[in-house]
Amino acid sequence: MSGVRHLYVHLPFCASRCGYCAFVVEVGALGARDAYLDALTAELGQEAGRLGPLETVYLGGGTPTLMRPRRLARLLDGLRPRLAEGAEVSMEANPETVDGAALRALRAAGVTRLSLGVQSFRPHLLGALDRLATPDQARDAFRCARAAGFEDISIDLIFGIPGQTPADLEADLADALALGPDHVSWYELEIKPGSALARRGTRAMDEDEGADAYRRIVEGLEAAGYAWYETANFARPGHECRHSLAYWGAADYLGLGVGAVSTVDGVRWRNAPGVGRYTAALAAGGPPPRTREPLDADDRRRERWMLGLRLARGMDLAWAGPPDHPGALDRLAAAGLLRRDHDAVALTREGRFVQNAILHELMEYA
Ligand SMILES: C[S@@+](CC[C@H](N)C(=O)[O-])C[C@H]1O[C@@H](n2cnc3c(N)ncnc32)[C@H](O)[C@@H]1O
Ligand code: SF4
Repeated sequence: MSGVRHLYVHLPFCASRCGYCAFVVEVGALGARDAYLDALTAELGQEAGRLGPLETVYLGGGTPTLMRPRRLARLLDGLRPRLAEGAEVSMEANPETVDGAALRALRAAGVTRLSLGVQSFRPHLLGALDRLATPDQARDAFRCARAAGFEDISIDLIFGIPGQTPADLEADLADALALGPDHVSWYELEIKPGSALARRGTRAMDEDEGADAYRRIVEGLEAAGYAWYETANFARPGHECRHSLAYWGAADYLGLGVGAVSTVDGVRWRNAPGVGRYTAALAAGGPPPRTREPLDADDRRRERWMLGLRLARGMDLAWAGPPDHPGALDRLAAAGLLRRDHDAVALTREGRFVQNAILHELMEYA
């Protein structure tokens, strides 16, 4: 069967910009939401010929929930005829923007999986990140989502936040587990250039402290029955994010909206930021402003190594092609960091804790 099976839709509106955030975001532009929805519909129409039945859809942001249920329902109504049977429809939700009624409406509109941006349950750490939601709002949003019928709820957390002690981490772990999420994404704080944290001169956590925190998170979640299926992602059996698995498996995907990236048939394109320019271009019947980059076989081989080794199950060597330094494979296997079984290659548990160092051994540019 042909056609792209995975769709990402970027919904960029936010109430304010969090200190660590470097995503394509529009603050103070809520008046543009209806025009933006029209433009998304137009872009979907332009690209529809590329799509097969969609197995996964991901509504990400920004703060998708600021679109409010009636606009999101309109968007999902337009996508419904394109969904494959049993499709996963994920949506990011910021806790302070949803209540029981909104979550029931979103579930009824066809959202099957909710990803709640919690980041931490400690008020002082949320303050350090400039987050708007309180820990109680995060808990309430989670419980309302369960009551609304969501059986696939993920929470996003961050470690390495300035001021975070080992006791804070233990408390976040306990609070996360107390909610009983189906999936957890737990990222190390990245101080991204251009973010408010970078401008304030905030420093990342010391490498050893970061490694200790990461190990503790993996151990704590595994002990509670979550599989460490990807570098920063953990799931109860059967609750892995199918959309993210498609990215890590280097499948083709289409992205709609400002800043969205698409990769189809060896070409990658990236829509420019700027809601005003995006809506104007689509209202005029044209494509959005975007840049195109062909990917050659070498780019794709390298990308497969970067992505495939993130997965616990690893990847097929025949599919990935050789690493830049094939001789390192035996060396890493002998050191107990990598496992080779006929044509399959995966990092061992110890290898996964030092994934970046391993990529430096295998790949020229990593
Ligand atoms: C697309 S983002 C934002 C989703 C949603 N707007 C929110 O704020 O919850 C998805 C997740 O990436 C993570 N993230 C974003 N920027 C990060 C950074 N600089 N370092 C670590 N994690 C980050 C956060 O956990 C966030 O919830
Ligand atoms: S982290 Fe989320 S809520 Fe905060 S500015 Fe970025 S996209 Fe918006």
